[in-house]
Amino acid sequence: MTAINEVGDLTIDGDVAVLTLNSPPVNALSGPVRAAIDGGIRQALANDAAKSIVLICEGRTFIAGADITEFGKAPTGPSLFDALAMIENSPKPVIAAIHGTALGGGFEVALTCNYRVAVPSAKCGLPEVNLGLLPGAGGTQRLPRIVGAQKALEMVTSGQHVGAKAAKEMGLFDEIVEEGKLRQGAIDFVRKVVAEKRPLKKVRDLSDKMEADRKHPEIFADFRKANARKFRGFLAPEYNIQCIEAAVNLPFEEGIKVEQKLFRELVTGTQSAAQRHVFFAERQVWKLPDVPADTPQIPVNTVGIIGAGTMGGGIAMNFLNAGIPVTIVETKQEALDRGLGVIRKNYENTAKKGRMTQDDVEKRMGMLKGTLALEDLKDSDLIIEAIFENMDVKKDVFGKLDKIAKPGAILATNTSALNIDEIATAVKRPEAVIGLHFFSPANVMRLLEVVRADKTSKPVIATSMAIAKKIGKIAALVGVCPGFVGNRILAQRQREAQKLILEGAMPWDVDRVLYDFGFPMGPFAMSDLAGLDIGWSKEKSKGETIRDRLCEMDRRGQKTSAGFYDYDENRNAKPSKVTEDIILEFASKKGINRRTISDEEIIERCIYPMINEGAKILEEGKAIRSSDIDIVWINGYGWPVYRGGPMFYGDTIGLDKVLAKMKQFQAQMGDDFKPAKLLEKLVADGKTFGSL
Ligand code: 3HC
Repeated sequence: MTAINEVGDLTIDGDVAVLTLNSPPVNALSGPVRAAIDGGIRQALANDAAKSIVLICEGRTFIAGADITEFGKAPTGPSLFDALAMIENSPKPVIAAIHGTALGGGFEVALTCNYRVAVPSAKCGLPEVNLGLLPGAGGTQRLPRIVGAQKALEMVTSGQHVGAKAAKEMGLFDEIVEEGKLRQGAIDFVRKVVAEKRPLKKVRDLSDKMEADRKHPEIFADFRKANARKFRGFLAPEYNIQCIEAAVNLPFEEGIKVEQKLFRELVTGTQSAAQRHVFFAERQVWKLPDVPADTPQIPVNTVGIIGAGTMGGGIAMNFLNAGIPVTIVETKQEALDRGLGVIRKNYENTAKKGRMTQDDVEKRMGMLKGTLALEDLKDSDLIIEAIFENMDVKKDVFGKLDKIAKPGAILATNTSALNIDEIATAVKRPEAVIGLHFFSPANVMRLLEVVRADKTSKPVIATSMAIAKKIGKIAALVGVCPGFVGNRILAQRQREAQKLILEGAMPWDVDRVLYDFGFPMGPFAMSDLAGLDIGWSKEKSKGETIRDRLCEMDRRGQKTSAGFYDYDENRNAKPSKVTEDIILEFASKKGINRRTISDEEIIERCIYPMINEGAKILEEGKAIRSSDIDIVWINGYGWPVYRGGPMFYGDTIGLDKVLAKMKQFQAQMGDDFKPAKLLEKLVADGKTFGSL
């Protein structure tokens, strides 16, 4: 065995040179890994005993892509392209031996080899699009030559991982060998290649699929049209499509030039920077500075849920989906039956769409027990209260739970607004109390705010984070404060949106600007969807707000076909004259001189106070890091991924710019815009949120 460098070695196994890479955790193509490939292939070619070359990796996976941490920095070490050219032009067959995930640049290395051998659990894919990129090492030109344009379009724009079996069927893998015997399997395979004098297949020379695709230029327009909604706002999918188009229409070398040009544009742009930030933020969010990974956890084998309403039911589904039995408690049989019925209906709808079998439905329903007796939660390891937002009622429930729940059980509340420290005073074991703030619909939305109260114990926090992962959520640990992180920031946007419509904009102006910014919908369309009457009561309504007036007129949102907007029978929204008149009347009663409001002001008024509030949250220690706030807003509120979250966005546009605007608005409109101390400090120090 010869060490090439610290991450690669070459072994001559009889007549086969085996180049092994070992760069944990994922053998990413860092400078040293590229150097190991370059040096290893060079040595294998020079070694007369070696008739063929196997490229294999140690650890959990084959090369999982370029080293994402290197993007944006000055390149070091040999170029990947030179190494790939050496592999592709090798007179000796080169075989990629794949386990784990051959992704991105890693799969591109494999595509340059003459053959690919994999174990059954291996996967491959080109997920660059998820980082706002495209495969920049020939992947967009080689992939379609194997699978054709249509399949290539699907793969590069979705970033999906393809399992070994499917990869073999598609021609991406040449041979599947026994699990755990990859090295020997690859050596046997390459000896066969040599013995049978099989041709040195070069993917770049394949032409039949491209010729066939050239006869169907409509593939691309059709694909763009079919995915327009999904790709809205993102640059990378379109750039990926252009590369596949180039593969079909241009010679290989020309296609590579297109790929390189577009890759360079993406990798130096803000969208990819944002998406790379999100990639790391999603991994950082699980790391808790004072709750180490080895903190003891409480086994959670059964879950109790109090309240079978929309939230309780949705929360229950998460656990049922993960195979954890749930007992759900209601106070009245009718409410219980309704709640259980909704859960069943949701599952049956999924089954109807073919995403679950009827058997799966019954299996899940079989793990769900409904009851009217709180005592039935005595054996639950985790109990989540999901009743309406009333402190006295919640405290009463927790007081009762304290007497029923077994020692060590986690007592969680799904409150989105109430003070969890106060809820915890209702029990003699405040260390067991935590907030698990699910977002509606709770079985769909990825975000979970795990709210740490003053006395919450570390095992309870560690267990809550682990259980969140188990049920497929992305969890952010936050502290107790009004609205926690997500809704506290939302309140800023809502306040400004309401002010803007009195000052001169219309709801559809605000919505359009925020939709164009990248949100799935604006605040007024959102209110109409949720229902304007949430938290509104006819008896108490005094017509003091626009919302009051709309509700009094039975304009309660989409469900009544009217709210801020008018809706037709297909729920298409139209600006409403009625709403407009109410707004104008309100503004005039308040003596507001309406003015023209620019799109720019809508963005600045709605978004900058959010960034500022995020700074206050950090200052108060209610979020661990700024990227956690980004995770909350991306996964809970539809913040566009390609803008990286509010805090990243603040850094992108410049905190000095945000601060200057906040000060200007404060002078004009008062302390709603009072800059956070942290924001002032960062600007004074020339720093960013990302630098904290
Ligand atoms: N570069 C640098 N670090 C990487 C990395 C990469 N490509 N892929 C993963 N890591 C790091 C993670 O940040 C994490 O670090 P941490 O432990 O310090 O938090 C660690 O490796 C382990 O990653 P995961 O926690 O994600 O481990 P999993 O086992 O759950 O998943 C994986 C493994 C499927 C490989 C997943 O990490 C992944 O999807 N990685 C990204 C793959 C990718 O996007 N590749 C394309 C890169 S761009 C490219 O190749 C451009 C080329 O075309 C030129």
